[in-house]
Amino acid sequence: MLFFRLLVASVTIFCFTSLVLEAAELPNDEVEGLREIGKTLGKKDWNINVDSCSNKSGWGKPESIQDNNITCDCGTICHVTFISLKSQNLQGMLPTDLSKLPYLKNIDLTRNYLNGTIPSTWGSTQLEVISLLGNRLTGPIPKELGNISTLIEFVVESNQLSGELPQELGNLNNIRRMLLSSNNFSGQLPETFASLTTLDDFRIGDNQFTGQIPSLIQNWTNITRLVIQASGLSGPIPTGISLLTKMIDLRISDLSNGTEISFPPLNDLKNLKILILRSCNIGGQLPPYLGQFTKLSSTLDLSFNKLTGPIPSSFSSLSKTDFIYFNWGMMPE
Ligand SMILES: *[C@@H]1O[C@H](CO)[C@@H](O)[C@H](O)[C@H]1NC(C)=O
Ligand SMILES: *[C@@H]1O[C@H](CO)[C@@H](O)[C@H](O)[C@H]1NC(C)=O
Ligand SMILES: *[C@@H]1O[C@H](CO)[C@@H](O)[C@H](O)[C@H]1NC(C)=O
Ligand SMILES: *[C@@H]1O[C@H](CO)[C@@H](O)[C@H](O)[C@H]1NC(C)=O
Ligand SMILES: *[C@@H]1O[C@H](CO)[C@@H](O)[C@H](O)[C@H]1NC(C)=O
Ligand SMILES: *[C@@H]1O[C@H](CO)[C@@H](O)[C@H](O)[C@H]1NC(C)=O
Ligand SMILES: *[C@@H]1O[C@H](CO)[C@@H](O)[C@H](O)[C@H]1NC(C)=O
Ligand SMILES: *[C@@H]1O[C@H](CO)[C@@H](O)[C@H](O)[C@H]1NC(C)=O
Repeated sequence: MLFFRLLVASVTIFCFTSLVLEAAELPNDEVEGLREIGKTLGKKDWNINVDSCSNKSGWGKPESIQDNNITCDCGTICHVTFISLKSQNLQGMLPTDLSKLPYLKNIDLTRNYLNGTIPSTWGSTQLEVISLLGNRLTGPIPKELGNISTLIEFVVESNQLSGELPQELGNLNNIRRMLLSSNNFSGQLPETFASLTTLDDFRIGDNQFTGQIPSLIQNWTNITRLVIQASGLSGPIPTGISLLTKMIDLRISDLSNGTEISFPPLNDLKNLKILILRSCNIGGQLPPYLGQFTKLSSTLDLSFNKLTGPIPSSFSSLSKTDFIYFNWGMMPE
């Protein structure tokens, strides 16, 4: 197999090609695009003398290929589809211009020191996965990102992002994972989020949101993981949560609202493996059905509530659950 030798660029491309016999080559525009992106991100260990579409890493140390690679899709010509630069100590900023890489689907810059804002120009890409977890990004999420109709995963946890979530994000009709935890987002969840019915995983813990947990979450009937811990949102927990029957992992905590609520109707959430309803101002008695949730094997945390009465005898069947936290003062029946 022949591979195109990059003369000007300084990158390695992995081509996962199905035995294409012609020489596969990366268009000059994409080579130039990669060079610009590397420069903006602060990628310093480039190697100019490696073949494209080989598995020799031009990004840096070969042993770090797992977290440090480019993937391209090759027919008669190659196109860059995936940039992965995880934990590479990158100290630059996000590139504003991705237009030279029109086939890019996945950009993963997890755990670097990138600062600056998320460029609004990314709104005109056809990205499927954006992962910026664990950087130093600031500013709001640009409303233009609501235009990325191809977007499936949007992961920006553990940055310093702020401002209100743009209502345009409600247009993301393919989104499955939206992970926004550990930032400084404020305001309410936009009403347009009612249309995010493809959501599988939504996390907004550790933020500065205001207002109540909106009842629109009941529309997310495909969701399996919902994390609203210390998000700033207040109670009560909407009763429509009873419709989210595919839920496996439900974590809600630190709801500020002095009004005591009764235990939320989780009767039909029988797939739960993890249930955390900690400091949610829940009063009244523990519902016996919870004791029959046979999959609840990892964590059950109902501490810091106002639950009263005995622990129902059905809970003895939860003996396989690794961690159980109740309110102090509750006694087994
Ligand atoms: C590069 O490595 C991947 C997986 O490790 C393999 O599938 C692919 O065929 C390799 N490409 C070349 C050109 O050796
Ligand atoms: C490239 O990086 C991605 C994401 O880290 C990883 O899943 C993939 O296995 C890597 N490819 C190679 C050839 O190591
Ligand atoms: C990003 O960090 C660098 C230092 O690493 C600093 O000089 C620059 O001002 C920062 N930019 C922003 C937008 O915070
Ligand atoms: C979204 O894209 C449309 C065209 O498809 C454009 O008219 C509109 O200005 C874009 N909106 C944003 C917020 O970028
Ligand atoms: C978070 O945002 C609030 C305003 O909404 C601001 O007062 C506060 O300083 C910000 N905190 C951080 C850590 O950026
Ligand atoms: C949300 O669900 C309600 C009924 O539960 C429905 O009337 C509404 O149209 C849904 N909204 C969206 C945007 O899907
Ligand atoms: C819900 O999930 C199922 C199975 O994963 C999928 O076939 C279906 O399209 C999803 N529905 C929505 C609205 O995303
Ligand atoms: C507190 O919860 C009650 C219902 O449980 C609701 O009527 C009230 O508006 C909530 N208060 C605030 C400030 O959110």
